[in-house]
Amino acid sequence: MTEGKYDDLNPAPRLLMGPGPINADPRVLRAMSAQLLGQFDPQFREYMKQVSELYRGVFQTGNRWTLLIDGTARAAIEAALASLIEPGDRVLVPVFGRFGHLKVEIARRYGAEVIPIEMEWGAIFPAEMLERAIKQHRPKIVAVSHGDTSTTMAQPLQELGRLCRAHDALLYVDATATLGGMDLPIDAWQLDVVSAGLQKCMGGPSGSAPLTLNDRAESRITRRRHTEAGLRTPESVEGEGPVIRTNYFDLAMIMDYWSDKALNHHTEATTMLYAARECARILLQEGLKKAFFRHSLASLALTQGLTAMGLRLFGDPKHKMANVTGVYIPEGVDGDKVRRGLLKDFNIEIGTSFGPLHGRIWRIGTMGYNARSDAVLNTLGALEAVLAGEKHKLPRGAAVDAALAVYRKA
Ligand SMILES: Cc1ncc(COP(=O)(O)O)c(C=O)c1O
Repeated sequence: MTEGKYDDLNPAPRLLMGPGPINADPRVLRAMSAQLLGQFDPQFREYMKQVSELYRGVFQTGNRWTLLIDGTARAAIEAALASLIEPGDRVLVPVFGRFGHLKVEIARRYGAEVIPIEMEWGAIFPAEMLERAIKQHRPKIVAVSHGDTSTTMAQPLQELGRLCRAHDALLYVDATATLGGMDLPIDAWQLDVVSAGLQKCMGGPSGSAPLTLNDRAESRITRRRHTEAGLRTPESVEGEGPVIRTNYFDLAMIMDYWSDKALNHHTEATTMLYAARECARILLQEGLKKAFFRHSLASLALTQGLTAMGLRLFGDPKHKMANVTGVYIPEGVDGDKVRRGLLKDFNIEIGTSFGPLHGRIWRIGTMGYNARSDAVLNTLGALEAVLAGEKHKLPRGAAVDAALAVYRKA
């Protein structure tokens, strides 16, 4: 090996205040250093059961099928859509940011007749508009984001589950960016399939994607059950529906693997399962209500700080996510240069956005382990210093004072 070429892994101590990933809770990192177990070891199967139980708490559901998809959040989106969509099914996708387009793209790949409806970035769909679209298009499936980090908007979902039931559609919700940070009572809101990731409000690394599905979704998926030839026994029950078009993301197979049958599919990602378990354990120990409040407080402190600095917030404030804030890059300021300055001088990362918003807004995340007062205050102070260094005129000290006032009042 070339002497000195590969030093010890020694990442810079960044404060990750972008739209995710964020810094993992140190307890999660600790859990990830635990020794591996075999996937059929009784102790490991017990950990899998615990993960299902813990995520029932996180998702606020009684759903039996509450499990992990091995992969980033996108893996669970793909597993849900691939397993629900039968070729030719009509799928309605309300698009209010980049991650709506992602669902359109995935649904098309699995042979759906996709009906995208679009909203300008920075706004959400009024309930009447969704109702009209469902009545008009009569979709089999509706696939929607809860919070779309690309625009920092959160789509209200209280009414949508009921609407979908009334019109016999299944509802899939991508809660990647909101699970653990915003209230999402899955059973109460009648959401059929919901998935997430760990690297946002759950305070973990990316690489494992919790997913839950109810009986309505289960019956649609198990009618497509197919057992691999090498695993089939005379007792295997095969579904009569068309085989799910992906093997790795076949939810019928993944459910068999997570069931007491423990029918082999993939090899569960042990270390990521430890991480997911610890994320949920920590969140439930804190309590969902307290965690939601902590996120909304961090968001309020950040937005008050940014406004006091003279910056303008992006999007509809009534429907802003509680954990990511979009803010316009001021006229005459090079947004990427400011981000580079924050990283270089303060070890702080913030994001810009995609598509029409690239270079127009910054996105600042206050989520999971980083939804803390010190993280918010340090970010505001650093942003102020970098902007001042760029000769942008602003009232010095006002941002941190305003954010601090929010925390003192809470
Ligand atoms: C709403 C939403 N969905 C999906 C994703 C994709 O997640 P991942 O990068 O973990 O696959 C993201 C990531 O930012 C997201 O915000």
